[in-house]
Amino acid sequence: MKPTVAPFPAARLRRTRVSPAIRGLVRENTLTTDDLIWPVFVRDGEGIEEPVISMPGVVRRSVDKIAEAAVEAQALGIPAICLFPYTDPALKTEDCAEAWNPDNLCNRAIRAIKSVAPHIAVMTDVALDPYNINGHDGFVVDGEIVNDETVEALVKMTVAQADAGADIIGPSDMMDGRIGAMRSALEQAGHKNVSILSYSAKYASGYYGPFRDAVGASGALKGDKKTYQMDPGNSDEALRLIERDLQEGADMVMVKPGIAYLDICHRVKTTFGTPTFAYQVSGEYAMIQAAAQNGWINGEQVMLETLLAFKRAGCDGVLTYFAPEVARILNA
Ligand code: PBG
Repeated sequence: MKPTVAPFPAARLRRTRVSPAIRGLVRENTLTTDDLIWPVFVRDGEGIEEPVISMPGVVRRSVDKIAEAAVEAQALGIPAICLFPYTDPALKTEDCAEAWNPDNLCNRAIRAIKSVAPHIAVMTDVALDPYNINGHDGFVVDGEIVNDETVEALVKMTVAQADAGADIIGPSDMMDGRIGAMRSALEQAGHKNVSILSYSAKYASGYYGPFRDAVGASGALKGDKKTYQMDPGNSDEALRLIERDLQEGADMVMVKPGIAYLDICHRVKTTFGTPTFAYQVSGEYAMIQAAAQNGWINGEQVMLETLLAFKRAGCDGVLTYFAPEVARILNA
């Protein structure tokens, strides 16, 4: 459908911008608390909230503090919280066995949240990097990130998370064949209502730097992730990955990072019409916070503008470290 516009002055397009009331009436996209998934970092100990230096305003919380944060998020109307563990370096091994330990940090946090905030959905991250002495998302054998052996481990990790009470499994590893393997393992284990939100189009990005500090993976990582994460030059490939993951049983899909990949979000939504999410990653958060702290931008305005941009591009929701701050503003 082609929009028709009368010639000037019959059409003065500024008429629909003349007042807040009229602007509100014609606004095409809005941001609501329903659009938010809040990523949080979990660490060992008790009563701890430890700042992440490269992400001002973000902390690593001990399990008890994560539970408190989840109660708060639930009260703010945030629908989902997503857990990322900061694993004790002593527990990182080449075989990554801690990843599927039923009592690992992530699984303890899931149970703690479920016992105090039963209505917030708990999402998890599935990849080996927090547990891997090599810092990679998959097993490293003779310098290669091996696919099929990694998928077997990811499946064990997935089932352990679902057993602990996870509602949404978020595979961020970019291995081939993982979605189908996870879906059938979940069905077999009786977790038929556990969703998979696949990090389907995840790019090998410089924007993940602060996150790797937050989970303590930067020191461990040797090399880069370019043999499994996507080339930033590619767009059609993202559609193939999304289609493949949907055919293997993904319920929802994600594009990551966010703001530099809005074209991908838009193509995914218009092509598949499937629940689509973007991840406003650590580097995006850090850039906004740093500029705001220097007084170079209005941080609140830019935060809200970027999140609205994801909605305009076609996303159903956004993973953002700003979630509680945004919810407080939207609820005011
Ligand atoms: C790990 C993972 C990463 C992020 C989410 N899961 C980092 C990576 O792939 O190196 C990045 C999130 C962020 O930067 O906020 N599989």
